[in-house]
Amino acid sequence: MINKISLWGFIWMSLFGMSCQHKINNHPLNEVMHTFSNYDSVPCKHLNWQAKVNFETKQITGIATWTFENKNNSPYIYFDTYDLSIQHVTINQQNIDYSLGKPNKEFGTCLGIPIGSNDSIVSIEYTTGANATALQWLAPLQTAGKKLPYLFTQCETIHARSLLPCQDLPALRVTYQADIEVPKGMMAVMSAKNPQAKNESGKYHFDMEIPIPTYLIALAVGDISYKAIDARSGVYTEPSMLDKAAAELSDIPMMMAAAEKLGGPYKWGNYDVLIAPPSFPIGGMENPRLTFATPTIIAGDKSLVSLIAHEMAHSWSGNLVTNATWNDVWLNEGFTTYFERRIMEAISGKDYNDMLWELGYQDMESDFKDLGMDSPDTKLYVDLKGRHPENGFTNIPYEKGAVFIKMLEENMGRKKFDAYLNNYFQTNAFVPMTTKKCLAFMQQYLFENDIKIKEKLHIQDWVFSPGLPNNCPHKNPIRFEKVDTARKLFEQSGDVKNLVTTNWTTHEWLQLLRKLPHPLDHTKMNALDNAFQLTGISNCEIADEWYKLSISSNYEKAYPAMQDFLGKVGRKKFLEPLYREMMNTEANQKMAKDIFKQSKDNYHPQTAKKIEGIISKK
Ligand code: BES
Ligand code: ZN
Repeated sequence: MINKISLWGFIWMSLFGMSCQHKINNHPLNEVMHTFSNYDSVPCKHLNWQAKVNFETKQITGIATWTFENKNNSPYIYFDTYDLSIQHVTINQQNIDYSLGKPNKEFGTCLGIPIGSNDSIVSIEYTTGANATALQWLAPLQTAGKKLPYLFTQCETIHARSLLPCQDLPALRVTYQADIEVPKGMMAVMSAKNPQAKNESGKYHFDMEIPIPTYLIALAVGDISYKAIDARSGVYTEPSMLDKAAAELSDIPMMMAAAEKLGGPYKWGNYDVLIAPPSFPIGGMENPRLTFATPTIIAGDKSLVSLIAHEMAHSWSGNLVTNATWNDVWLNEGFTTYFERRIMEAISGKDYNDMLWELGYQDMESDFKDLGMDSPDTKLYVDLKGRHPENGFTNIPYEKGAVFIKMLEENMGRKKFDAYLNNYFQTNAFVPMTTKKCLAFMQQYLFENDIKIKEKLHIQDWVFSPGLPNNCPHKNPIRFEKVDTARKLFEQSGDVKNLVTTNWTTHEWLQLLRKLPHPLDHTKMNALDNAFQLTGISNCEIADEWYKLSISSNYEKAYPAMQDFLGKVGRKKFLEPLYREMMNTEANQKMAKDIFKQSKDNYHPQTAKKIEGIISKK
């Protein structure tokens, strides 16, 4: 009897004890910052990351050793994790009891570790999970070489927590060093100082001694080789892609010169680009020192390199001056899109650049149409409280943000505006930037405290109201006027001779295909296809627009090539519109589902989830 009581007592006490510990040790989610961590009272400063990449189990096993500062004698340090399994936690080589909070599908699990007032280093031994949202593991067949597997990370916005335990918010900066072990014959590269050749051991050391937010931690592993463009810049990619990629990106030094003129000296050391395999889920990611980019920008005629200008521009807007919360993401993406266009204007001229502005404007209009002009998600300052920061993520922070800044430039004059912009980057480097602080800085240094100018420009409306104020600059570019004239003649006559496309870049093609009537009759579809071989075209931007037009016109001849495209390319921006378009008609819904079934293994887990959402609606 006594035994029984004490057994129940023991079980009861353990359960009670556990739940108590749970409560004490689980830090609540900060819904504005999207973190469980106590970054304000116990901020992490430096990461020493020891990790082994295992392609067989598709796991990274690692030890994350964090140096932190216990500012207010807090009894715990809290980290963000996502689907990580924690093996041991040690402080001064002593195992420590840690606790995990209740897992949250969007934000992950809080890891709480008791600390003393003199502690400053904690080591966490862990393994990544099968649902790690930062990781995409590729089989050899998904690479260009088809022999070795590949791994890359994508940590923006809150995915770093699925790569390693960390205080995962953009307002906190940390330095890092890493020792990464990969299978022999493969190379590892990071957002850090990088090797330029493979080594025998498969062990690579990295240093990032400039503090960065965790969303900029990045790793890629594969059959990666390097080719220099100049002393500061080069390309990393699979060997068979190397020469082509380096030729396409040979304007990087020119872009960098234009960027430094606008933003001030480049502070990060090298600027390299990794061209990832085609299933890379986004266009590009501004990982410091090493932009990650989709191979779909390698068009053969440099017509898609504005994406590199964009990621390079983040070296100032984003990586130096960083959005404090994801609500302020327009400070990263809007300033960067503006900055990107200034780089492109410097290297390609105004008439060319006006086309980029216009296509961006059209992307913004299409989001206004989808969301509704009065949707709160069309404000520059968005309210993401309690939502996943990528929920509601659109072109608005990019294009409305950029056109807002362009409006300021046009009103204040370029000379004054450029001085302010340079000052903004220099003064606020390494400081988390809030929308409020950004507007105050503008008030002081751009408007020089002239309240009247500010009112005239409708700043409050631009930033805090949905829709688009009526002082938005917008003009059809000269080069598109020509396209529009030719298009109208073609629409009337059906004669492709009206389309003189000899000097067209990708942008003119996009203007033509976007403005043609949807659906377009098959005689005209055939005429276009026969004259310009649009079905199966290797330029992914043009292909995407053509397939969109093909689906809405029910032009079945393009479907096999489109299916091929959807099986190879993993860039969300290309996939989503095509799947959406297919779901519009009953006849094509089955096709969408079949193509998804065949292609989904090639998609990044986050992309697959998104597409699954689109095709399961009906
Ligand atoms: N920083 C973004 C990528 C990003 C933003 C990832 C938000 C996750 C959440 C990057 O700089 C970017 O904007 N990429 C664009 C390309 C650009 C030219 C518009 C993309 O990937 O499409
Ligand atoms: Zn960007």
